[in-house]
Amino acid sequence: MFWSYFFLILSGVISLLGIIYILQTLWRTLLKKEAPYIPSPLDTAQQLAQHIIIPAKGVVYDLGCGDGRLLRALYNTFPHATYRGIEHELAPYVLFRWHNRNIPKEYLSIKREDFFKTNISSATHVLTYLFPHIMDKLLSKFEKELKPGTLVISVDFAFSKKQPKEIINLETHTTRGKRLYVYEF
Ligand SMILES: C[S@@+](CC[C@H](N)C(=O)[O-])C[C@H]1O[C@@H](n2cnc3c(N)ncnc32)[C@H](O)[C@@H]1O
Repeated sequence: MFWSYFFLILSGVISLLGIIYILQTLWRTLLKKEAPYIPSPLDTAQQLAQHIIIPAKGVVYDLGCGDGRLLRALYNTFPHATYRGIEHELAPYVLFRWHNRNIPKEYLSIKREDFFKTNISSATHVLTYLFPHIMDKLLSKFEKELKPGTLVISVDFAFSKKQPKEIINLETHTTRGKRLYVYEF
């Protein structure tokens, strides 16, 4: 009897959390027009690390880092640089902490906040996988904050008012994550 009530209450709590998460995601994507949590394909993350070189003194930010797969792929190839994820959603934040639990925080860490409020002036590289209108909103922040020479690497989405230094086509098994736009600031 006790266990029947226990599992009934537990499934109620899990369903409620699921509904809250779905409502929050709909509110953020449909009303606030923010990019939802759709991770880059793993193929994309692996190939990113074959095309981009991160020096040992590099500081790499992923704005809206999700579970951290882009940063992790780079860390696995260039382990001496510093990797910083910024994420405002709870679920991907928890996934990031779980997937990267064995990597020392001095190398790879995450901050739970709105990336528009993050000071990214120490970056040498910035990764994004967002939406075109969010890229355009970020442009003035990048122009103000980034040091000359900083590279911004955007998966799939380009700025409408800045020319890329390079476009890298990837060979992935999905329709997403097929192109990297590389910009120099
Ligand atoms: C399309 S996902 C990309 C995740 C990861 N970069 C990847 O490539 O796998 C976009 C992520 O950005 C986060 N995000 C969107 N707007 C944000 C904001 N203003 N501040 C922090 N995170 C944000 C979302 O919660 C989501 O996890």
